[in-house]
Amino acid sequence: MIYRFDILGSTNDEARNPAYREGDIVIAERQTAGRGQRGHTWESAEGQNLTFSLILEPRFLPVNEQFLLSEVLALGLVDTLAEYKIEARIKWTNDIYVGNKKIVGMLVENSLTGGCLARTIAGIGLNINQTEFDPSLPNPTSMSLVAGREFDREEVLTRLHHNIMSLYESLRCDEKEMLQSRYRSTMYRLGEKHHYTLADGTVFEGTIRGVRPSGELQIEHSSDGSLHEYLFKQVEFVIKK
Ligand code: BTN
Repeated sequence: MIYRFDILGSTNDEARNPAYREGDIVIAERQTAGRGQRGHTWESAEGQNLTFSLILEPRFLPVNEQFLLSEVLALGLVDTLAEYKIEARIKWTNDIYVGNKKIVGMLVENSLTGGCLARTIAGIGLNINQTEFDPSLPNPTSMSLVAGREFDREEVLTRLHHNIMSLYESLRCDEKEMLQSRYRSTMYRLGEKHHYTLADGTVFEGTIRGVRPSGELQIEHSSDGSLHEYLFKQVEFVIKK
């Protein structure tokens, strides 16, 4: 079911209500307190984009395999954009990029019962018809800016929902290697030399070689060829504006 609201604080917060069940979507035309990663806010012009949360109940998935859910979501987004001839890539962990610009942000929140995942709230902000962004945002883009035309947001939502749920069924059917290999080959900057910043501010040059099934980013350092693995928040991409 799709539950529609004109205005909400954050769809991720509304989606915590246990009345919503697996496969449901909570969508708002406007969020007054949209949340992003790393404690940031998420700004989205009213009625121009998609800001929604998808509820999943992945009780079949061990906690240490939760990164596979990010893979399902990211690939569902990339597949949907490809249906509109927009070639997008996955910026580890959860962003979707076109070129060097961000078209989708995702905030995935999991809750656990015992050793298992009980509920996942996948908050997705997909920029569709917005063409002007706050200049303070680092590098936003939208489907309209990329393709030079407007899109039917309802149609995009229907396709996205279908594509994500179909990859989610692949995960339920244990097609984990397919998801891992597709995620890897769709990664932004895979195999290219670029700069990255560590949490202590050190900048280094390296090449993304892949991602571990548990989600750590693998970067080969140019200085000595050594392979390092990074958790979320341990490393940031240096991206020129
Ligand atoms: C990020 O890139 O920082 C993540 C942005 C996630 C934004 C979406 S919009 C719908 C859902 N509700 C929220 O409050 N945040 C997510």
